[in-house]
Amino acid sequence: MQRNMKSNMYNFTILYGSTRKKRLGIRFVDFINRKIKSKGHKSSIVDPLEVKLPLLDKRYADFQKSKVPENIKKIQRVLKKSNAFIVVSAEYNHMPPPALINIFNYYYSEFNRKPSCVCTYSSGDFAGIRVQSPLRAMLSQLGCPPIKFGMYQPKISHFFDKKGLPSDELDADKRFNLFFDELLWYTRVLNT
Ligand SMILES: Cc1cc2nc3c(=O)[nH]c(=O)nc-3n(C[C@H](O)[C@H](O)[C@H](O)COP(=O)(O)O)c2cc1C
Repeated sequence: MQRNMKSNMYNFTILYGSTRKKRLGIRFVDFINRKIKSKGHKSSIVDPLEVKLPLLDKRYADFQKSKVPENIKKIQRVLKKSNAFIVVSAEYNHMPPPALINIFNYYYSEFNRKPSCVCTYSSGDFAGIRVQSPLRAMLSQLGCPPIKFGMYQPKISHFFDKKGLPSDELDADKRFNLFFDELLWYTRVLNT
C-alpha cells in the first residue's frame, strides 16, 4: 500500500461494472472521481470497458509471474497500491452487473484489510439499493469491510448530465461528503 505520509493523501480506486455502450453509471463514476481529486487524494477507475477482462479462467495469483497478461497485471497494480475502494454499481435484475463481479474474482489479497464503500444507482426510483447486500457480502469475504454509508442515486439520467455534473450540486456534495468522510476515517485507521 502506498500513501504520501506528508500530506495524508490516499489512493482510492473506483470499481465500476457496466459494459453497456449507452451506460449511465459512468456519470456517477466521473462525479465521484472528480470529488476525490478535489479533496487532494488520488483516484483511479477500474472500468471493464477500458481494460477488458475475459470471463474468469485463472485468477491473477494462479498465473506464473512472467506470464500474467498485461490487462490483468495493469488492474492488479492499481488495486495493490490502493488504500480504499469505492464500488459504483447498478442493479441488473436485482443483482450486480456480471463484469463487476468478474473483476473482483480475478484478485484477492489486493483487497485485504482495506475499507470499502458501496454506492448504487438506477434509472428508476430505487437507486439500485438491492445490490447492497450481495456486494457487502462479497467485500466482507475479500477482507475489505464495507462502511455503513454510501451514495445512492435514483433517476441517474436526470440527476447527472453527460459530464457527470449534478443538477443539484449542494445536495450531491452533501451526500458525497457523508460517505467519503467516513471512508477516509477508516482509511486512516487501517493504514496506520
Ligand atoms: C440487464 C438490465 C437489468 C436491469 N435490472 C434493473 C433492476 O433490477 N432494478 C432497477 O432498478 N433497474 C434495473 N435496470 C435499469 C438500470 O437501473 C438502468 O438501465 C441503469 O442505467 C443501468 O446502469 P448502466 O447504464 O451504468 O449500465 C436494468 C437494466 C439492465 C440493462
